[in-house]
Amino acid sequence: MTDQPLVLGIETSCDETGVGVVRGHTLLADAIASSVDEHARFGGVVPEVASRAHLEAMTPTVDRALSEAGVTLADVDAIAVTAGPGLAGALLVGVAAAKAYALGLGKPLYGVNHLAAHVAVDQLEHGPLPKPCVALLVSGGHSSLLLVPDVASDVRPLGATVDDAAGEAFDKVARVLDLGFPGGPYIDRAAREGDRASISFPRGKYEDGTYDFSFSGLKTAVARWVESRERAGEPVPVADVAAAFQEAVVDVLTKKAIAACRDNGVSHLLVGGGVAANSRLRALAQERCEAAGIQLRVPRPKLCTDNGAMVAALGAELVGAGLKPSALDLPADSSLPITDVLV
Ligand code: KG4
Ligand code: ZN
Repeated sequence: MTDQPLVLGIETSCDETGVGVVRGHTLLADAIASSVDEHARFGGVVPEVASRAHLEAMTPTVDRALSEAGVTLADVDAIAVTAGPGLAGALLVGVAAAKAYALGLGKPLYGVNHLAAHVAVDQLEHGPLPKPCVALLVSGGHSSLLLVPDVASDVRPLGATVDDAAGEAFDKVARVLDLGFPGGPYIDRAAREGDRASISFPRGKYEDGTYDFSFSGLKTAVARWVESRERAGEPVPVADVAAAFQEAVVDVLTKKAIAACRDNGVSHLLVGGGVAANSRLRALAQERCEAAGIQLRVPRPKLCTDNGAMVAALGAELVGAGLKPSALDLPADSSLPITDVLV
């Protein structure tokens, strides 16, 4: 057990300052400081506000994670940090901090891909990932389908959103319905009281034969539907709109994810990212996986949303695979391609 690497992971790609500590596949600490409340009144993450909050939260969050794990900086074998993709200024704060820790401690530094980290985190809960698996990553910043022969070294894009991310669509529709921010959990809750078949919203790229997604037409269709109700002076059935919108999103996501597994002969599907916390997405994915003979893996919600444990988990994987650490002049790359697991 103690021969497994002890890795400190730092995540600052969006509005969560996450610091995790893992030993191999064992989670020891997962400390989070979020600036989400500071963005709420703008209805979206403000990059400069997020960067400043990361700067203030960084050292206290590292200290909290170490104390939660019952270890000291001297015990750490390697530092891992999200190098991209994400908000440029936010990434820079984490990368600069990770370099300082690595240099000060004389420990190797691993600059890692945020999306691959969303995949690697599942190992902390469900053990080693089947090779290969297909991953559906859905959050406020990304919606991607990936073929993952090996999360440490071989991650291949199958498809992605051509416009809004799935979580972004949830956030925008929540604004149209006057619900809170971030919108996903509010829509999820409202939808429980609604009828998902009451309104038929468009399912972008449903039958186009690709693994790509499109949610901007759906978002506009919901806004138009609500506007026409309001113009007619009729009440807006919020629960029904939420349920019908949510169904349109999760129908396309699960249909394409199952097709990606089937077409590539893969028997395991992993769903991650903040939208994986959605109760209807979990239920429909389970139902369709069972029907198709596919094993579904979804980490618990706290490991689905952005966190430092996922970065530490991928770092441990890279150390375990014997890969060469990053250079100390490692750049933060806001549009890091998914094929670059390690920078
Ligand atoms: O992964 P994450 O924490 O950060 C990003 O990288 O974006 O995901 C946040 C996104 C937000 O858009 C939020 O509305 C969405 O995940 N989300 C949900 C739910 N919980 C969070 N979407 C749908 N249903 C949920 N229960
Ligand atoms: Zn994310």
